[in-house]
Amino acid sequence: MYHSEIIGCGMYVPEKVVTNHDLSQMMDTTHDWIVQRSGIEERRWVDAQTSTTDLALKACEEAIKNAGIDKKDIDCLLFATISPDHDFPGNACFLQPKLGLTEIPAIDVRQQCSGFIYGMSMADAFIKCGQYKTILLVGAEVHSKGLNKTTAGRDVAVLFGDGAGAVVIRRAESGSSKILSTHLFAEGMHAKELWAAAPGSGLGSDERINHQHIEAGLQYPSMNGKKVFANAVRRMCECLNLALETNHLKLEDIDLFLFHQANLRINQMMAQELKIPEEKVFNTIMKYGNTTAATIPIGMSEAVKAGKLKKGTLVASAAFGSGFTWASSIYRW
Ligand code: UT7
Repeated sequence: MYHSEIIGCGMYVPEKVVTNHDLSQMMDTTHDWIVQRSGIEERRWVDAQTSTTDLALKACEEAIKNAGIDKKDIDCLLFATISPDHDFPGNACFLQPKLGLTEIPAIDVRQQCSGFIYGMSMADAFIKCGQYKTILLVGAEVHSKGLNKTTAGRDVAVLFGDGAGAVVIRRAESGSSKILSTHLFAEGMHAKELWAAAPGSGLGSDERINHQHIEAGLQYPSMNGKKVFANAVRRMCECLNLALETNHLKLEDIDLFLFHQANLRINQMMAQELKIPEEKVFNTIMKYGNTTAATIPIGMSEAVKAGKLKKGTLVASAAFGSGFTWASSIYRW
């Protein structure tokens, strides 16, 4: 079996900053409510011309540069997103030519907030079994074009932002695997607790989307916030403990915790429950909101810039999101 390692990361967020005060001009909300309930102070939104693959391209270019590889070495492209440029084909197919690549497999991962760790797990397995050697994995989202920006959608609209993060995962030349473990879970019976119903073939109509669907707002995400919150804390703690157990590690052995960024309170509660010192948990949600599949690789890039993620750092990540899906990974930088 071969070994895998992350050799570089990159990120990109659009320039336009949208503050909580900006949102309060569009819907009945306040800066204080958003900060108290979620920790979010601002997020980034794209302009009309920019798509998810545009953000992904910039994050990928930075990851390729930081990895110090020739992009021609990339033999597989994985793209985690729930806000693609078009209904089909998948976003990896649109990104591949933008990157100047041809013929390599271009695969979309649709596991929402857990999408990046699901993608890491796939990349790790591809490398360990010898199928591919140099995998580019990107998580990118443009949520701002899919939110209900009126008071009716305020519980969801204030949480999400646009952004992209990418990593290059490569077969290690020597030593042991630096991706120590990945654990993936799903419980589809809760799929409708956080979802966007349309467009879709499951709407009991003969079109995937029609005017009635749009008038009913079925194209917008809807969420049972309290249920998602409670499950996020429980499941992320569970799968993090499983990851530690699998690797015969203790919490104190982990140098840095890079969790999914859905709500600062979720991450604070996890830290409290697991007794993790606050300075070991790296959060970016204050600046970017929830960028779904992009939160963890954005966190990697920001942690590198902040000097918290260096060669040898032992990192634990966990994510929870729509599906319900959840996942964890432990890796050495
Ligand atoms: O990535 C994974 C997916 N997402 C998550 O993990 C998110 C999980 N859930 C959450 O983060 C929280 O549940 C929210 C931040 C969404 C909501 O916080 P909450 O403390 O659970 O608030 P709530 O839903 O109980 O709402 C409390 C009140 C309600 O008013 P009433 O019924 O008490 O009069 C809401 O209508 O706050 C109201 N509310 C708002 N008020 C101002 C809901 N959204 C807003 C808003 N601004 N944006």
